[in-house]
Amino acid sequence: GTPALETLQVTLVIGAEIRGVRLSTDLDAAVVDEIKALVARHKVVFFRDQDHLDDRGQEAFAARLGDLLPHPTQHVREGTSSLLELDSSHGGRADQWHTDITFLPAYPKYSVLRGVVIPETGGDTIWANTTAAYEALPSALKQLADTLRAVHSNAYDYAAQRPKATEVEKRHYREVFASRIFQAEHPVVRVHPETRERTLLLGSFVQRISGLSRPDTHRIYELFQGYITSPENTVRWQWRKGDVAIWDNRATQHVAVNDYGEAHRVVRRVTVEGDTPIGVDG
Ligand code: SIN
Repeated sequence: GTPALETLQVTLVIGAEIRGVRLSTDLDAAVVDEIKALVARHKVVFFRDQDHLDDRGQEAFAARLGDLLPHPTQHVREGTSSLLELDSSHGGRADQWHTDITFLPAYPKYSVLRGVVIPETGGDTIWANTTAAYEALPSALKQLADTLRAVHSNAYDYAAQRPKATEVEKRHYREVFASRIFQAEHPVVRVHPETRERTLLLGSFVQRISGLSRPDTHRIYELFQGYITSPENTVRWQWRKGDVAIWDNRATQHVAVNDYGEAHRVVRRVTVEGDTPIGVDG
């Protein structure tokens, strides 16, 4: 058998560093399976010192986890099939709590993020365990969540979120988001297809909770988000260039802390295709 990978939990609830692995396309299948099992258990795993990876290497490794799903509206990086770059100097700051691309009916199961340019101070990412958050709910709130559905959409003004975009870029974003609106209604409680755990499915793409007014949507959303983002339910990662994080996008939310001002930060992400969420009633 393959020796167990060396792991170091970052917190008891979420996050583990995996040591002694050089991520590449030719890892043994048993090692890839163990990485997947560790992601299922810890929700997000971290690898230091993966400086050997370039864009294609990152994609090729991620493809070992499943078929890649390019972002449906954002620019795919030159020379790659699906790599998304988040560059702070172009306004790429994922600074609201979210799960990646939940406005698609079948949103990604994994995200693989690589640190490319990391500010000297700040620019951490925080992940939250949405399964532990569900577990922490009192039973009356579990029952409420179990019955709810929410509409997720990309229909918000990306241009307004990118105050530094040029007029041409702003026009581009407006055109793209006027014509390529995606919307998906998901259960608020998803049964994880692999672990069978129940997990809260919300995040900043939620536009409304089905059947509720806007103010009630807001109150109910904040009520559940409070459990998700409570400090005890999160892990915070201080990036170094060459780090790679892999998370279970079906059991987490994350936020990039926007605390580095004018410093430059670049991370690159590849997402792996997932399936359509199933709620508690199947
Ligand atoms: C993301 O939202 O996928 C990127 C998070 C980050 O920039 O740290």
